[in-house]
Amino acid sequence: MKIFADTAIIKEIEEVSQWGIISGVTTNPSLIAKSGITLEEAMKKIVDLVDGLISAEVNEGKADDMVKEARVYAKMHKNIVIKIPMTIEGVKAVKQLTSEGIKTNVTLVFSMSQALMAASAGATYVSPFMGRLDDLNNAKDAGFNLVKDIKDMFKTYHFKTEIIAASIRHLDHVDQSMKAGADIATIPYKVLKEMVEHELTRKGLKIFAEAGK
Ligand code: E4P
Repeated sequence: MKIFADTAIIKEIEEVSQWGIISGVTTNPSLIAKSGITLEEAMKKIVDLVDGLISAEVNEGKADDMVKEARVYAKMHKNIVIKIPMTIEGVKAVKQLTSEGIKTNVTLVFSMSQALMAASAGATYVSPFMGRLDDLNNAKDAGFNLVKDIKDMFKTYHFKTEIIAASIRHLDHVDQSMKAGADIATIPYKVLKEMVEHELTRKGLKIFAEAGK
């Protein structure tokens, strides 16, 4: 499973890109608002920091408007993927952008039916939101089940669309993404840092340091 950074904060991207394990970055309007810069400025900086696919989300609206906006970002850099919301207009926009060879990431996916719609339109990626689905169902495995069901469905029907496990809140979601067979997990900075941690690693380091004194 590939690791993407789910952030638009340039300082965070600079840091994690130096670890050498990031294959891409996803942004959304909330993340761009937190970054304090515009989507266009963020894209210009991120493509220089990460040699991988970078998702830029267009404003939800009519298919034609989303396509026009998408073309602008797609022209900025070959690694920019257009994030499109899961609506009928979004599905139409994905179909058009796919025909133009522009990569798409269909976001806000919460069901197998939505994933089928996105894949049928030719989406490069679908982003099922694990954390938000768990919150809604007050369950620990709703997000896991969704990613797994989509994975099985794509396999059964031979879709090439890849799954980006999104809305990851903690380490269990990272583990669940792998177990469910997600192609990619897009992970916030805080969780990325937690991924290298384990209390026994810390304990072991302390024991080794003391033994070496
Ligand atoms: C990623 O592509 C999504 O925009 C992101 O994971 C959303 O997560 P949230 O539920 O934390 O907003």
